[in-house]
Amino acid sequence: MEFTPQAILFDQPGPPADVLRLSDHRPTAPRPGQVSVRMTASPINPSDEMFIRGTYGTRPVLPQVPGFEGTGYVVSSGGGFRGRLFTGKRVAVLNAGGGNWAHETVVPASQVIPLSKQLSDEQAATFFVNPATAYVLTQHVLKISRGDWLVQTAAASCLGKMIIRLGQRLGFRTLNIVRSERHTDTLRKLGGDAVVVFDGDKTAPSELTTAIAAEVGGDGVRHAIDPVGGPTGSALIGSLAPGGRLITFGTLSDQPLQFSGRELMTRQASIEGFWLGHFMASRSLPFKLKLIRQITRLVLDGTLATNIARTVSLAEVPTAFAEPVAGRTLIRMT
Ligand SMILES: NC(=O)c1ccc[n+]([C@@H]2O[C@H](COP(=O)([O-])OP(=O)(O)OC[C@H]3O[C@@H](n4cnc5c(N)ncnc54)[C@H](OP(=O)(O)O)[C@@H]3O)[C@@H](O)[C@H]2O)c1
Repeated sequence: MEFTPQAILFDQPGPPADVLRLSDHRPTAPRPGQVSVRMTASPINPSDEMFIRGTYGTRPVLPQVPGFEGTGYVVSSGGGFRGRLFTGKRVAVLNAGGGNWAHETVVPASQVIPLSKQLSDEQAATFFVNPATAYVLTQHVLKISRGDWLVQTAAASCLGKMIIRLGQRLGFRTLNIVRSERHTDTLRKLGGDAVVVFDGDKTAPSELTTAIAAEVGGDGVRHAIDPVGGPTGSALIGSLAPGGRLITFGTLSDQPLQFSGRELMTRQASIEGFWLGHFMASRSLPFKLKLIRQITRLVLDGTLATNIARTVSLAEVPTAFAEPVAGRTLIRMT
C-alpha cells in the first residue's frame, strides 16, 4: 500500500535537505484548552529553516515537526470557551512550538485566530508573521511619521516588500538596501523611494554612509531596521542620526553586529532587538484584536499580501529544500 505522509519530522538539527523526513506521526488528542486543527497550508519561512538548523531563538523538542505559521480548520476541542467557539472555523495557526507541517496539529486555543472568509488560503497561511512584523515595527515600535525616512536592509525580502508598500500607503519614505543590482527595478516599481546596492562583505562601510547621506541628508536617519546583521547591518550604524534607532530583528548573515560604542554614544543613538512573539505576549486582547482587523484590511488590499513563488505538497518538502527558490514556498496539505 502507498505510504501517505502525515507530517514532516526531523530527529536532529541540521541542514533541512539532510534532516527532514516524511513521517506517519499524528498528534495526541487535544487536552482542555487545546484545539485540533486540520491544516490546509503552511509557508516555509526563514524562522522555520533556522529552527530546523538549531539556530533559532527556541530549540526543537526532538523528534520535532516544524512549521510556526499556517492555516486550517478547527476540527475538535479539548474543552474550554475558545475551543468550542472556534470549532468548525478556518483559523490562522501561530504554533509557537512548531508543528504545522502536518495534516493535523494540536495547539493551545490561544494560538489560533479566526480569519475573514475574504482571505484566500494563500494569504490566510501567511497572514500573521511578516504582515504583523511590518505593521508593528513601523507603527508601534518606531512610530514613523508621514514623510519620515526608514532605512531597511534585505529590502527585497517578502517582509521588505511589505514595508515598501506600507510606506506608500501610510506616507513614510523607504531607503532600501539590497545586496544585488537585480532587485533595483522591482523595488523602485513597487514604490521604494530610494534603492542602494550594498554588500557589507564586499564593500567598505563608508560607501553606505555616503549613499544614505546622498538620499536623506548628512544628519543621517532616525529609523532603521535590519534583519541581516554582520558587516551589512554594522555599516548601517554609522548612518544613524542623533537619537536615531536601529531595530535588529533577524540574523540572515549569521554574523554578529560589530561597532564601536562611540558610534552610539556620541549621537545618543540606540540599537534594540525585536521579536514578534515577545511583543505580542506583552499586549492586551483589545490591542491584538485591533491589530488583526488592521492586518486583515491591509492584506486584502494587497499592501501586506505575500507573493507565493511556489507551492509544494507535504511529500515534496525535503526536495523543496534541495532546490530553493527566491520568494515564499507554500506547503499545501490538500
Ligand atoms: N524578529 C521577528 O519577530 C521576525 C518576524 C518576521 C520576520 N523576521 C525576519 O525577517 C527577515 C526577512 O524575512 P522574510 O520572510 O521576508 O525573508 P525572505 O523573503 O526569505 O527573504 C530573504 C531576503 O534576505 C536577503 N538576504 C539573505 N541573506 C542575506 C545576507 N547575508 N545579506 C544581505 N541580504 C541577505 C535575500 O537577498 P537575495 O535576494 O539577494 O538573496 C532575500 O531577499 C528574516 O530574517 C526573518 O527571520 C523576524
